[in-house]
Amino acid sequence: MPALGFGTLIPDAAVTISATRDALEAGFRHFDCAERYRNEREVGTALQAGLAAGGIAREEIFVTSKLWNSNHRPERVEPAFELSLERLGLKYLDLYLIHTPFAFQPGDDQDPRDQNGNVLYDHDVTLLDTWRALESLVDHGKCRAIGLSDITLNELQPIYESARIKPAVIQVESHPYLPETELLEYCKKRGIVFLAFAPLGHGMKPGLLEDPVISAIAARVGKTPAQVLLAWAIQRGTALLTTPKSAARARENFNISALPQDALDEINRIQTRQRLNEVVKTGVPGFIPQR
Ligand SMILES: NC(=O)c1ccc[n+]([C@@H]2O[C@H](COP(=O)([O-])OP(=O)(O)OC[C@H]3O[C@@H](n4cnc5c(N)ncnc54)[C@H](OP(=O)(O)O)[C@@H]3O)[C@@H](O)[C@H]2O)c1
Repeated sequence: MPALGFGTLIPDAAVTISATRDALEAGFRHFDCAERYRNEREVGTALQAGLAAGGIAREEIFVTSKLWNSNHRPERVEPAFELSLERLGLKYLDLYLIHTPFAFQPGDDQDPRDQNGNVLYDHDVTLLDTWRALESLVDHGKCRAIGLSDITLNELQPIYESARIKPAVIQVESHPYLPETELLEYCKKRGIVFLAFAPLGHGMKPGLLEDPVISAIAARVGKTPAQVLLAWAIQRGTALLTTPKSAARARENFNISALPQDALDEINRIQTRQRLNEVVKTGVPGFIPQR
């Protein structure tokens, strides 16, 4: 799995297509998708066109999708997976993740709510039930690896211990303001890939891209703040997802190089702590476009 991944959580359909093509052309070979992003068709269109134009084989790219909360019932898993494959125009997935550990009321409504606006959770299915259904997908050769997203260490441990097919990857928010060191160490010891999203803090300002420590290192090493943040993530042993939306930013985010040890140490000493996504506590995403 290429450590540097391109994330496709992009609200606009036309931008999804252009940004995905730009990422492929810049050199990205790892693409992170989800049924919840409602743009798998656009990502698929861009990938098919980009592979054909660049003479790139399907086997040279790594594609992930994710099972949404309203499809946790075991009988809903394979149909949801097949629909993602169909929308992406692919015959297999390299990785399939359970998007969050929270089961919502089963059905086609991705955001089921009661009349007071409260989320309708499904208490009749466990995460392990859903995990067993993902294991079957691997058995049938439809996806090569499975994992979990928006998971805490407390939730990961029992799944890891009970799993017949162990989680290959976990995808969680992580950046210098949320290093998740304990979870990272747990993963490293067990050979689980820790895949960080929001490595640039979702590009929010003020935020990581303007952090004085990051800016000073960027000026010193002749890189941009984004390149410093991405290099730090890779050098601490995580994979990452980033979502540049222009060709220039795709090239910038792909063109990273190793930071000196003193720069890594400085970043590790940053004391600010901030979680940008509450999804890990509720299953409700914070950054999903409504369309
Ligand atoms: N599992 C989950 O629950 C979950 C949640 C969130 C995200 N994700 C995944 O993670 C992926 C990454 O998303 P992210 O928002 O965390 O990505 P990110 O790369 O940390 O942040 C994207 C933001 O950073 C800006 N940006 C990108 N490159 C830049 C650069 N070189 N200089 C300055 N600003 C830059 C973008 O601005 P512009 O828009 O102006 O280009 C955008 O606003 C998503 O696409 C998705 O696949 C997963």
